[in-house]
Amino acid sequence: MPVRYCHVNPTAKSIVLIGMMGAGKSSVGCCLQRRMKLPVVEIDDIVASKFAMTISEIFAEHGEDQFREAEAEVLRNLKATDQAIIVTGGGIVLGEENMDLLRRLGVVVWLDGDGETLFRRALCTGNRPLLQGENRKNFEEILRTRHPLYAKIAHLRIDTSVLTDEEVAVAILSKVEKHNRPRQSPIPVTAHE
Ligand code: S3P
Repeated sequence: MPVRYCHVNPTAKSIVLIGMMGAGKSSVGCCLQRRMKLPVVEIDDIVASKFAMTISEIFAEHGEDQFREAEAEVLRNLKATDQAIIVTGGGIVLGEENMDLLRRLGVVVWLDGDGETLFRRALCTGNRPLLQGENRKNFEEILRTRHPLYAKIAHLRIDTSVLTDEEVAVAILSKVEKHNRPRQSPIPVTAHE
């Protein structure tokens, strides 16, 4: 009987953006939304609305641990079948359980960049509780700790250092398309003909 090889399509549903503060996840998420006509799910926004507080207020009043627990809870409640652009907070990779939760949602794209660029961007976009005092050394330390975690969880990595948000969005779409292309599986299936 002839043997064929079946094609395996990972059929990833969503695009999940991870990366350090200042990587441009929210802005790139908006660019992707315009191009893909998909909803954007901002995990930080959902957490903030649950507490009816800003992220800084949550950190100040409830502490980082409670923020992390709420962040994981939001993630647990996202359905893998709902296609969206999912924008995460920079520290989401700190939760061990979050790794699998994120990867089951779709293609995980790590927006990376050089430390100086990320720090500069993070300072001028938004009020971040972990960036109090604009401490570059502290930022580098956080980046060093998280780098291997981003690398471990991501399916794809994009260096955003010299790219505009639109260019990053275009690069993501091209890489995701290649990533989702059917691949030959080494699992043989028996042909019926
Ligand atoms: C955090 C990043 C923030 C937000 C919170 C914690 C982090 O999101 O979730 O302040 O630990 O890096 P952005 O990555 O969008 O800044």
